[in-house]
Amino acid sequence: MAARSWLFILCLAVADAGVLQTSAQPDLKGFISIDCGLEGKTGYLDDKTNLSYVPDDGFTDAGTNHNISVEFMTPLISRRNYNLRSFPDGERNCYTLRSLTAGLKYLIRAAFVYGNYDGLKKPPVFDLYIGVNFLTMVNITGLDGAALEEAIVVVPDDFVQVCLVNTGTGTPFISGLDLRPLKSTLYPQVTETQGLSLFGRWNFGPTSNTEIIRYPDDPHDREWVPWINPFDWTVISTTTMVQNIENDIFEAPSRVMQTAITPRNASGNIEFAWDAYTQPKDPTPGYIANFYFTEVQLLPSNALRQLYINLNGRLVYNESYTPLYLYADLIYEKKPFLRYPEYNISINATSNSTLPPIINAIEVFSVMPTINVATDSEDGTCTYMYSFSDGSLNFRANLIIIDTR
Ligand SMILES: *[C@@H]1O[C@H](CO)[C@@H](O)[C@H](O)[C@H]1NC(C)=O
Ligand SMILES: *[C@@H]1O[C@H](CO)[C@@H](O)[C@H](O)[C@H]1NC(C)=O
Ligand SMILES: *[C@@H]1O[C@H](CO)[C@@H](O)[C@H](O)[C@H]1NC(C)=O
Ligand SMILES: *[C@@H]1O[C@H](CO)[C@@H](O)[C@H](O)[C@H]1NC(C)=O
Ligand SMILES: *[C@@H]1O[C@H](CO)[C@@H](O)[C@H](O)[C@H]1NC(C)=O
Ligand SMILES: *[C@@H]1O[C@H](CO)[C@@H](O)[C@H](O)[C@H]1NC(C)=O
Ligand SMILES: *[C@@H]1O[C@H](CO)[C@@H](O)[C@H](O)[C@H]1NC(C)=O
Ligand SMILES: *[C@@H]1O[C@H](CO)[C@@H](O)[C@H](O)[C@H]1NC(C)=O
Repeated sequence: MAARSWLFILCLAVADAGVLQTSAQPDLKGFISIDCGLEGKTGYLDDKTNLSYVPDDGFTDAGTNHNISVEFMTPLISRRNYNLRSFPDGERNCYTLRSLTAGLKYLIRAAFVYGNYDGLKKPPVFDLYIGVNFLTMVNITGLDGAALEEAIVVVPDDFVQVCLVNTGTGTPFISGLDLRPLKSTLYPQVTETQGLSLFGRWNFGPTSNTEIIRYPDDPHDREWVPWINPFDWTVISTTTMVQNIENDIFEAPSRVMQTAITPRNASGNIEFAWDAYTQPKDPTPGYIANFYFTEVQLLPSNALRQLYINLNGRLVYNESYTPLYLYADLIYEKKPFLRYPEYNISINATSNSTLPPIINAIEVFSVMPTINVATDSEDGTCTYMYSFSDGSLNFRANLIIIDTR
């Protein structure tokens, strides 16, 4: 039986530096980047991305600021995770992000680093909503645990609320909040009635497992996390720019597509797996995956790399596929896979293929039904009296360490 790759998760990050004036407005790129719980009215320039982070003053009225415990303030976690805002009062507390373009697609990402800020040594479990739509249950395990939750949704109004809901299992808090506009043509699986909740966005083949690729390499500031397994996979790569085809609907960044993996056993397959993240409010999540491919080697004319993808022994795509040389391409699903407790993926070479299979990156999402994503604009105070539970196993941290068994 071939080994399966499993994910083990730690925490990580980036950041630092300059000084900027705060503003509750998107920047010129339409980005909003918030350091929740940052004291004062002055932001700073993040030294890894050159994006300006602002305090959450003006985005929410409620809550109190805290610093994480000093023993968790290591260079491994980013500056914005040194502080957070917690919401001891009220069942539901929201951030309101304004000056958006109604009808546009947005990526909304929230970061949570507990760091024993309250001295209770007990990370809370709470729910995260985009407007009235349940995104996920945030369940941080371990004092140094971290969660990173992301949704891609159509925002029907010129504002959107991100809400933390107390489910009676600890005080909700948040460390950081990002909003990034996406062109309407991107992520065709996202519609007015369906959003995507990120489970994981992995880059195969980087050399360092702390090397997260995001802005400016990815103009949309998606975070591509390394998935490394030197026991089973060999890395192949190119230094040549990988291009996007015209009207590309995913726009994978070149730096992600420049690295790929092939099986160490050249006659074997690429295999990896994930378990469904089942939650009380989403007990049978429906997953969608985008499989990204680029041929990074110039092949002789008599060579052929041709592959297909199996999920739990069923074909994901019914035709043989050959990656394009130095162009980003992908196999993606419009509808969720059949629902399983675990997802075993195998990428096999066809019998005609003279080369082993490759893959460059993968995104896995669970689908998220959406209605009126923004919520009632009169409800600026966010004091709803209901509580819910749950969402999807996200890739709940920034640094992923891979173990093989
Ligand atoms: C950030 O901006 C500085 C000054 O313009 C530049 O030297 C640096 O390369 C930039 N960093 C990134 C990651 O773009
Ligand atoms: C957090 O630490 C910073 C820097 O030491 C300090 O300025 C700020 O007042 C602290 N915040 C809280 C809520 O204690
Ligand atoms: C949170 O995660 C831990 C560890 O995986 C698990 O034991 C616990 O049951 C989870 N909490 C909830 C409310 O699901
Ligand atoms: C390589 O993979 C092939 C096909 O799965 C298998 O028959 C063979 O035993 C593998 N070799 C090693 C060294 O694992
Ligand atoms: C996935 O693979 C594991 C280990 O190879 C196996 O035990 C399990 O039954 C497989 N699951 C499915 C749904 O095929
Ligand atoms: C693959 O499936 C599509 C849609 O069901 C069908 O139109 C196409 O003919 C199939 N291709 C092959 C090679 O079976
Ligand atoms: C693809 O590879 C997997 C894992 O080695 C194997 O179980 C499966 O039978 C292969 N699929 C086909 C159609 O050969
Ligand atoms: C392999 O190549 C032969 C000859 O070109 C072709 O008839 C056959 O359909 C190919 N098989 C696959 C799986 O593509």
